[in-house]
Amino acid sequence: MVVVLICIQFITGLLLRFTYEPFPGRAYDSILHLQNNIVFGQLIRNLHHWSAVFLIIIVLLHLLRVFFTGAFHGKRQFNWVLGVLLFIIIIFSNFTGYLLPWDQLSYWAINVSTSMLEYTPFIGTFLMEIILAGKEVGNSTLLVFYNLHTGIFPILLILIMAFHFWRVRKAGGVVVPKSETEDNYVSTIPNLVAKEFVVALILIAFIFTLSILFNAPLLEKANPNFSPNPAKAPWYFMGVQELMIHFHPLFSAIIIPVIIFLTTIFLPYFNYDTEENGIWFYSNKGKKLELMQQLCLRCLQSFLYC
Ligand code: HEM
Ligand code: HEM
Repeated sequence: MVVVLICIQFITGLLLRFTYEPFPGRAYDSILHLQNNIVFGQLIRNLHHWSAVFLIIIVLLHLLRVFFTGAFHGKRQFNWVLGVLLFIIIIFSNFTGYLLPWDQLSYWAINVSTSMLEYTPFIGTFLMEIILAGKEVGNSTLLVFYNLHTGIFPILLILIMAFHFWRVRKAGGVVVPKSETEDNYVSTIPNLVAKEFVVALILIAFIFTLSILFNAPLLEKANPNFSPNPAKAPWYFMGVQELMIHFHPLFSAIIIPVIIFLTTIFLPYFNYDTEENGIWFYSNKGKKLELMQQLCLRCLQSFLYC
């Protein structure tokens, strides 16, 4: 499903490039022109928007499937790391794309998200200026985001995805429980390919239906002197924005996300015993951890309530 959505992104993205102009004075008008004067322009934009949203959701589901079937041990360790890198690129493809329409929504969302970086100790302002390619969101930011979005990230995605698939092959295919003997195996063609084809068709039909029914958002042209109240980060960063209400920004914007990132990427290298992979929620330790996690959540809830 992720591969199908990425193909939709590449095809619609290339089509959008024909009319999009990456300059603050012209970007918004080029989107209006696309929507109002180009045949199927609005549909192409909607397809790009909705597949971007579902890309994040489905990659996350893939991550969870890999996690809960324990498919990140042994020969698959490094493939997990590659997966996390792919996930980050997808998030940043979404993030850089978000600015491109240059409307009030995108302009202020990028402002809010990048201003969180300022809380990084010592290098906060420097980091923010590097990402914005200047002191504030402006001409250079749009051009840099555009080039990352339509050049660097797609190339990285293709390269790392090829590596990711090769590692799946190297590991002998996807994880299967030890108990399953080779007698149970069936040939890939037509069994797997037919199922994947059907899933792809359903997914494409779903994204098209959504794109026909609901337009990608577009507010009025970006106005640096007038911020909407409240200005919101893109939906996938809203958790971080929400945390800022409860914790000091240093914790919510930097320390907690960095800890989550490091724990996720190095997860396969934490040393714990695994008897069997390929079975959902198999290990006893996993079950105990689940209980502990629930306990911690309860404590955190009562702490916040106090
Ligand atoms: C994983 C891949 C990609 C993701 C997640 C992604 C995501 C996005 C998002 C979220 C937007 C804002 C859409 C909106 O207005 O709501 C956008 C816009 C845009 N993207 Fe992509 N994109 C991807 C790949 C590409 C590629 C490969 C190209 C071209 C080579 C491209 C070209 C564009 C252009 C020109 C826009 C501006 C038009 C618009 O905002 O409607 N994108 N992208
Ligand atoms: C662009 C994003 C991604 C694409 C296109 C992708 C694609 C795939 C495909 C097609 C497979 C083999 C079939 C399957 O297990 O479903 C696979 C396996 C795998 N993926 Fe991903 N993946 C992506 C992101 C991720 C992420 C975010 C993670 C985890 C952090 C991850 C970790 C793995 C692992 C460890 C395997 C091997 C699983 C096994 O052997 O059972 N991938 N990936």
